[in-house]
Amino acid sequence: MSGRIALYPGSFDPITRGHLDVLERAASIFDRVVVSVLRNPSKEPLFPVEERVDLIRESTRDMGARVVVDSFDGLTITHAAEVGAGAIVRGLRAVSDFESEFQMALMNRRLDPTINTVFLMTSAINVFMSSSLVKEICRLGGDISDFVPPACARALQQRLGTRA
Ligand code: PNS
Repeated sequence: MSGRIALYPGSFDPITRGHLDVLERAASIFDRVVVSVLRNPSKEPLFPVEERVDLIRESTRDMGARVVVDSFDGLTITHAAEVGAGAIVRGLRAVSDFESEFQMALMNRRLDPTINTVFLMTSAINVFMSSSLVKEICRLGGDISDFVPPACARALQQRLGTRA
């Protein structure tokens, strides 16, 4: 890969419209954005990694070749270097995200000072959105179509047995 590359790491269990908002902003700044799903997260995910990768591929098809989907084990900073990224992108919603993100960004910088973390703010409409809340709403039979792309809504309804 050449040009300015960014890594957008996360759990994406599943990808939401909030994530897609951050991704579109990143793709307008960088030549290539590698969206990468962390394997072996400490929390038990709803979707296996392969399915999360497929859902991201399906939901980002119209973004073209600037967006590449991947998965990784181990340290984010190591993966960033492996894909040739000069930056790690993270979305910031409310102030509550700030402390842990700040800690992660500074620790990643200690590990590799050549890679910067870039924070992008979601649209106001996405500020309170999270994969966990979307899963809870879906589990309890609520309408999630405003919060996730259609492929994720279908997958969530199937997985949680709430298909109408
Ligand atoms: O979508 P999430 O769950 O907020 O993403 C968190 C993620 C994957 C970015 C973070 O947990 C992470 O980077 N994990 C990989 C392990 C790692 O690099 N740990 C040290 C962070 S300083």
